[in-house]
Amino acid sequence: MGAYIDFSGRNVLVTGASRGIGRDVAKELLGMGANVIAHSRSGPGALRDATGKVGGSLKYVAADLSTREGVERVASFVEGCCTELHGLVNNAGIYSGLALGEETFDNWDLTVNTNLRAPFFLARLLRERLRAGKGSVVNISSIMGLSASAGAYPYQASKSALIHITRALSLELAPDVRVNCVAPGFIMTDMNKEGWNDASFRKEVEERTPLGRWGRPEDISSAVSFLLSERASFITGETILVDGGKSLF
Ligand SMILES: NC(=O)c1ccc[n+]([C@@H]2O[C@H](COP(=O)([O-])OP(=O)(O)OC[C@H]3O[C@@H](n4cnc5c(N)ncnc54)[C@H](OP(=O)(O)O)[C@@H]3O)[C@@H](O)[C@H]2O)c1
Repeated sequence: MGAYIDFSGRNVLVTGASRGIGRDVAKELLGMGANVIAHSRSGPGALRDATGKVGGSLKYVAADLSTREGVERVASFVEGCCTELHGLVNNAGIYSGLALGEETFDNWDLTVNTNLRAPFFLARLLRERLRAGKGSVVNISSIMGLSASAGAYPYQASKSALIHITRALSLELAPDVRVNCVAPGFIMTDMNKEGWNDASFRKEVEERTPLGRWGRPEDISSAVSFLLSERASFITGETILVDGGKSLF
């Protein structure tokens, strides 16, 4: 936790904050004094244990971001909470690793709507609140949005497009709002617990990662907090890889 950043009085929406990376981002921001609006599909989940140990305030909103109604509900909730939004962390996402022959229209829509359409429309719907707060948007992409592999087509497409949309939105919303991206490598969360529970795959990732280990949620939170903060006030349209060097070769 970096006490060097003070988010006191800053309003930040974090999507997918019930577990994994989003939960850690929300907890770090709370510790730095932010007023966090924590979203997830089903409820606060493991973020509930943050209550009472925080510097800032915490509100929850539940909504399915694969649907238009869910995106609109989150935006309306935020509008009801604050007139200025200082941060939007578009973190909620799903992974789908289907092979080409297994892919379906429904799975494509579910994955792309959750990982790409929702972040775009939250930024679109909340743009005036973000402008009022001179805010910062951080989209959570993936190294799979930068390097190609066979399979997981809607996941790769959504994460790649999110990087490009970040650049386009950074132009649209400048100079009031900065828009950046974080692209994690292999992080130990529910999303890939099958991978890190498999001893040989776990070792393979470690061996192929120059820094020699899997990432932890706090590795991502640090980058997110930095991009949200004034310390990144001259950075926009950028994507920061947080992958222990895995994408270098
Ligand atoms: N873990 C990795 O190795 C890794 C690597 C690269 C990128 N990422 C990206 O990092 C982000 C967070 O991943 P994670 O590993 O922390 O995942 P996770 O542990 O599986 O958590 C996913 C979060 O997203 C929410 N969510 C999923 N589908 C949703 C929907 N339809 N509507 C609303 N909320 C939904 C979940 O809410 P519920 O709890 O209510 O289901 C949960 O809060 C994702 O965008 C992911 O693609 C992760």
